[in-house]
Amino acid sequence: MATVKPMVNQIERHPYKVQADLGKFDTDNGLVNEGYSPIGHGHLILEDPVITKLADKYGKSPAQIVLRWQVDTGFVVFPKSSKPARVRENFEISGFNLTAAEIVEINALDQDKHLNYD
Ligand SMILES: NC(=O)c1ccc[n+]([C@@H]2O[C@H](COP(=O)([O-])OP(=O)(O)OC[C@H]3O[C@@H](n4cnc5c(N)ncnc54)[C@H](OP(=O)(O)O)[C@@H]3O)[C@@H](O)[C@H]2O)c1
Repeated sequence: MATVKPMVNQIERHPYKVQADLGKFDTDNGLVNEGYSPIGHGHLILEDPVITKLADKYGKSPAQIVLRWQVDTGFVVFPKSSKPARVRENFEISGFNLTAAEIVEINALDQDKHLNYD
C-alpha cells in the first residue's frame, strides 16, 4: 500500500475532455491538477466556433483562449510546440480573464473525447 500521497495528477484535459469529476476529486483531495494535451493536440478545438469567437473578442489566438481557460479553471498546463513563436505565444496569456459565463460556455463543449491518438 502506498504511504506517500501523490502531489500531482496529470490527465488529458482540453475543452473536448473537461474531466470535471476527476478534476474535482483531485482538488478535494489536495492534488494539483495538471492537463496534458492542453490545447487538444493542436487541432479541432482551435477551430471550434466558441473558441474562435472568444479569440476575436479578446484579440488573442485560439490557443491562448484555451490555455487561459485551463489556468482559470485551476489546471497547470504544459503545451508543446516545435515552433519558438508558438512557445512564446503559449506563455502570453496574462492580462485578460474569461468571464464565468465564458468558462461555462467552454465547459459545455465537453464530449469526453480522447484526442491524442485520433
Ligand atoms: N502523460 C501522458 O500520458 C501524456 C500524453 C500525451 C502528451 N503528454 C505531454 O503533454 C504535452 C503536450 O501534449 P500534446 O503535444 O499532445 O498536445 P498539445 O500541447 O495540446 O498540442 C501540441 C500540438 O499543438 C500545436 N501547437 C502548439 N502551440 C500552438 C499554437 N499556439 N497554435 C496552434 N497550434 C499549436 C503543436 O504544433 P507545432 O509543434 O507545429 O507548433 C502540436 O502539434 C507534451 O509535452 C507531451 O509529452 C503527456
